[in-house]
Amino acid sequence: MGPQHLRPVQLLCLLWAITFLPRLLCYEAVASLFRGVTFSNWRWLLLRSMVCKQREGCEETLVYIETGTHKGVLGFKGCSSASSYSPQVSYLVSPPGVSIASYSHVCRTYLCNNLTTLQPFVRLKATDSKSVVYSSHNCPSCVGEHSRECLPVFVVLESCPMNAFACYSATIKFQAGSLNTTFLLMGCTNAYRSFLAKFHHIGSIRVTEELNIVEKSWLIGAGHSSLGSFWSVLLGFLLIFKH
Ligand SMILES: *[C@@H]1O[C@H](CO)[C@@H](O)[C@H](O)[C@H]1NC(C)=O
Ligand SMILES: *[C@@H]1O[C@H](CO)[C@@H](O)[C@H](O)[C@H]1NC(C)=O
Repeated sequence: MGPQHLRPVQLLCLLWAITFLPRLLCYEAVASLFRGVTFSNWRWLLLRSMVCKQREGCEETLVYIETGTHKGVLGFKGCSSASSYSPQVSYLVSPPGVSIASYSHVCRTYLCNNLTTLQPFVRLKATDSKSVVYSSHNCPSCVGEHSRECLPVFVVLESCPMNAFACYSATIKFQAGSLNTTFLLMGCTNAYRSFLAKFHHIGSIRVTEELNIVEKSWLIGAGHSSLGSFWSVLLGFLLIFKH
């Protein structure tokens, strides 16, 4: 009796384990929307699910961005090897000015990544709803894709809140599963700096942020008036740099 005789048994055990050990079913979805986003109308459609690898959990990560009157939502649902954590909602970048909030949750029960609304952000915003006082400073404001929502003709100058006089502009990329979105984010902030440098990941969304160099030269000119066509020319340059 050698170990040779055990091999088929071991194989059977392995086959049994692969087939019958519990694996989780999770919703699979991505979100990437920059137009017509409101708290009441945005819905995350749950049309697909996926079977995870053993020990994986279900993740849902949603990012809500506001700059002036513009809003964007990006998100990922799917399997994750991270350990479970209860829903976490916080500002990565707080108002006034450009704000970026995130919601993230990893769980290990059947189809538990089932968030379909922006409700977590409604509650978050309710905690900071001081009335905003606007200044006479302006910044170009936009969130969306370079070739769509943020074409120079759609970028508007918006008044900055007090304490947020610097103009931010960056090209940001979010990647996770089939989420692969590159977008432009512009608006008022309290200091011209990188926002997301310390967040390489938001949940399993890989984040890269590239400050737009051309905007720095715009900043030098900021404060002076009659820049309307000046900055749209620079925006044009910015688009050229991106391609
Ligand atoms: C969503 O998932 C949670 C577990 O995370 C569960 O308690 C709840 O009943 C689910 N809601 C719906 C509408 O399926
Ligand atoms: C993401 O999209 C860009 C262009 O839109 C493409 O070049 C790149 O290969 C994509 N990456 C992945 C991981 O799909």
